[in-house]
Amino acid sequence: MTAPQPVRIAPSILSADFARLGEEVRAIDAAGADWIHIDVMDGHFVPNITIGPAVVKALRPHSAKPFDVHLMIAPVDPYLEAFAEAGADIISFHPEAGPHAHRTVQSIKALGKKAGIVLNPATPAKMIDYLIEEVDLVLIMSVNPGFGGQSFIDSQLRKISAVRTMIDKSGRDIRLEVDGGIDARTAPMAIAAGADVLVAGSASFKGGPDHYAANIAGLRRA
Ligand code: DX5
Ligand code: ZN
Repeated sequence: MTAPQPVRIAPSILSADFARLGEEVRAIDAAGADWIHIDVMDGHFVPNITIGPAVVKALRPHSAKPFDVHLMIAPVDPYLEAFAEAGADIISFHPEAGPHAHRTVQSIKALGKKAGIVLNPATPAKMIDYLIEEVDLVLIMSVNPGFGGQSFIDSQLRKISAVRTMIDKSGRDIRLEVDGGIDARTAPMAIAAGADVLVAGSASFKGGPDHYAANIAGLRRA
């Protein structure tokens, strides 16, 4: 079993001011973000469109923190290389986005990046039974993907616990990340269930740059 990890905070720039994205990334980095969470949406796999590899590349010089790129796109395989070249450190995808999740994991690792698998609220934990030997991260969606500012779905706590048990049993160094509706109330619940990385969009960026450090510190204390 690997040592328990300190809780990492991964602010989602989906809640940042898109007109000033470079400055926003610098500000959230300086405020104490551990990872920068980047939500990529295609208007097809999810009902919203956000950013592509060109924006990831433009943001890369603005932070040395790991870029945690959450792909909500289908198909996903044709775009892995572009996001890797743009500067992603961790690339996560939804198994529903292609026919061969195991191959997608292999492709991400062949690009020299950490590979994450994302479980939608209705996707069971057992989806990762035969991926646990390969992945570096499991991301549990605690909202349906597509938008920031939604409410945490409590049933996902059971899934976080189940995946925590699977990870511990595997003995592998795998991060367990939770994404959606994380705030001062839900963060402790997610951590108690076994999460070690918290994505937070609204809760990180609320109030503007003067509040980012306090927002992140508040989540960390939780
Ligand atoms: C939703 C995204 C999340 C979102 C979280 O599809 O994957 O990363 O930005 O936003 P909050 O923290 O506001 O729920
Ligand atoms: Zn996300």
